[in-house]
Amino acid sequence: MKCDLLIKGGKIFTAEESFKCDIAIKNDKIIAIGKNLPSREAKRVINAQGKYVIPGGIDVHVHFELPFCGTVSADDFYTGTKAAACGGVTTVIDFATQDTKRGLLAGIEARRKIADPKVCVDYSLHASIIRWTERTPLEISEAITYGVPTFKMFMIYEEEGWQSDDAALFSALELSDLFNFRLMVHAESERVMKLLINHYLKQKKSVGAYGHTLSRPNFIEAEAIQRAITWTAVTGGRLYIVHMSTSEGTDLVKTAQAEGVNVLAETCPQYLLLQDDVFKDKKTGHLYATCPQIKKKEDNMRLWLGIMDGEISVVSTDTCTFTKKQKALWKGDFTKIPYGLPGVETLIPLLYTYGVCEGRITMNRLVEVVSTNPAKIMGMYPQKGSLMIGTDADITIFDPKKTTIIDYKRLATNCDWSPYQGWKVKGFPEYTILRGNVIVDNGEFCGSKGFGKFIQRKLTL
Ligand code: URP
Ligand code: ZN
Ligand code: ZN
Repeated sequence: MKCDLLIKGGKIFTAEESFKCDIAIKNDKIIAIGKNLPSREAKRVINAQGKYVIPGGIDVHVHFELPFCGTVSADDFYTGTKAAACGGVTTVIDFATQDTKRGLLAGIEARRKIADPKVCVDYSLHASIIRWTERTPLEISEAITYGVPTFKMFMIYEEEGWQSDDAALFSALELSDLFNFRLMVHAESERVMKLLINHYLKQKKSVGAYGHTLSRPNFIEAEAIQRAITWTAVTGGRLYIVHMSTSEGTDLVKTAQAEGVNVLAETCPQYLLLQDDVFKDKKTGHLYATCPQIKKKEDNMRLWLGIMDGEISVVSTDTCTFTKKQKALWKGDFTKIPYGLPGVETLIPLLYTYGVCEGRITMNRLVEVVSTNPAKIMGMYPQKGSLMIGTDADITIFDPKKTTIIDYKRLATNCDWSPYQGWKVKGFPEYTILRGNVIVDNGEFCGSKGFGKFIQRKLTL
């Protein structure tokens, strides 16, 4: 069989099945999946014996070179997507903030100007709505036509000028069913949180970075999720809770789904694996600050259960990298820490080690939450997130036996620290293939700047 690339002898995992087969690729597409496909006429053969072959990861929540908290996130569209490739992620979705004068589309086009020449993997954008006006419904319909059918609204970040009030949320949810889009919501309750922040700021010296935890108890997220769910139920809208971090939030989503409310949820590795005692370390605690902040063991457990049981559909990373120097801007005030963590590069190895190897999820479920569901929910399936004949040959060959100690110095991210520094992971991507092109070869990045394409999306769910 004439093909450009033949992946031989690996164990294929999709969201539904696992089987041993070869995959043949020509140009940018999968052209055959079968046993004992002949190597003779293949331009290149990768021996995947003993390896897992999965659809490339899709991280639907990243923030590269985001102006935020008085600085700009340290992974730009080049280093961020290079890190993605090295972590077996072949598509990312970043965010384009609405241009308050010229509209959502202008925001998308401006972000594309920055991203297009730099991206090493395929990418798309969600549009962040920060000002709801009479024009916004028109702006939304323009963005959908352009291929951006997912919008984000923030219940916090008044200082950044990003916050939406309940009326705007309600209006967006009302439209979401009519226009066929999904509204992603950062759900935290800002008014009460500010009250608590002001209280703990009086003790900022003694509480240090742990003030971030004290001022955001779990009800701050849960109350906001409840509110967003209520508006979704009464409007018949489509909601997606981003970076869900609490057990209470997970319970609320589960109940709402059982009642037929169209709400989906994602969580991130930091909420599955880290606990808030990290903030107590006087030297490094502030590095871990992110919004929502890292919670407790009980929350980790409940979120894992949510992934197993299905109320959590997606694991993304909310990658928003800040270096130690940037994090040092806090100068002892927990409200001034640039919020965010690196993550896209370690998503799959961490989920494999602490999910699959610990018996919490199957390998098929891993594929489902990091690739197939993201593609389906965000409107890229089956082009992305599948291993089917005729679809984009975005493939990760994962070595389940490659034990690695996470060390930021050996990662592609621009970050000079890692929340998982020194952690042992039991497997790592060995090859990453984007539209038939090997961009990580035997663990070495060999992709190029600007090779990634902007993916136009259309919702079907
Ligand atoms: O702290 C975070 N997560 N920074 C990025 C912005 C957001 O809320 O997603
Ligand atoms: Zn957020
Ligand atoms: Zn985010």
